[in-house]
Amino acid sequence: MISIIGAGKVGSVCAFNILKMHLSDIILVDIMEGLARGEALDMLQSTSLIGFDGIIEGSEDISHIENSELVIVIAGAARKPGTSRLDLTRTNAKIISLIIPQIVDYAPECKIMIVTNPVDVMTYIAYKKSGFEKNRVFGMGGLLDTSRYCSYLAVELGVSRDSVQGLVIGEHGDGMIPLIDYTTASGIPIKKLLSKEQIEKIVEKTKTGGMDVINLKGSTVYAPAISITTMANSIIKDQKRIVCTPTIPDGEYGLKEVALGLPIILGKNGIEKIIELDLSEAEKKNLLGAATAIRSAISQVTEI
Ligand code: LAC
Repeated sequence: MISIIGAGKVGSVCAFNILKMHLSDIILVDIMEGLARGEALDMLQSTSLIGFDGIIEGSEDISHIENSELVIVIAGAARKPGTSRLDLTRTNAKIISLIIPQIVDYAPECKIMIVTNPVDVMTYIAYKKSGFEKNRVFGMGGLLDTSRYCSYLAVELGVSRDSVQGLVIGEHGDGMIPLIDYTTASGIPIKKLLSKEQIEKIVEKTKTGGMDVINLKGSTVYAPAISITTMANSIIKDQKRIVCTPTIPDGEYGLKEVALGLPIILGKNGIEKIIELDLSEAEKKNLLGAATAIRSAISQVTEI
């Protein structure tokens, strides 16, 4: 069973994706009276056409997540035009700190996927508050950044989205690092197909991608929802997909006591392995810079 805490737009679209894929039973939880129950009822009414025979339920009561395999946390304040992800730190740290002990009580064996922003900081807080092993607590950020990056690249190249593969590590925020040397179109290094200026333009668009949507319609929905769904699919089906995601390293890349986006193998145990890549000097410097910024945000909320 997958539980989703936070039945706003991202949470409910994610639940509907999971339902359409027939991936798992779903429990939606939201403290706003009626919201999760309403979303779940609306989805239940679609199941005879979708052919989904499982459970889709909504509740205000978090105890309904009991024995979930995966708990996805999307609760908290969202970004508005002009707000950075880090601006949300204090408000959302309080929310995460309240929710995590309840998840531990009701679903002690679960994996926790944090979506609440700033996701790197919230992932670290969730790890500390849960007492879970590092492989069972991770975020969702790098896969969304990678999807934006690869989608834009495919449009620029005029090729199928399926052909383009890349990795975006670092902070899910200003400190994100698209790895150009590991980006290819069907194995052809992207540098052979696009000019430096074209690649720089795409990197910039990737960095501002979330805010570009927020400025137009108030919030991002479909791209984060499908990124969460893709990760949930890899966990439930033990696909062992390689994705970039906020992770707590244990010395990998010379990093500890922080959470930030790294390439990992994602399976039934959550993070099966962190993949260590050779990075350029500039990429290493940017990764350390991102770790420093995230640690500084974590230190602002350690009393919570
Ligand atoms: C985004 C939010 C989820 O980048 O951080 O769309």
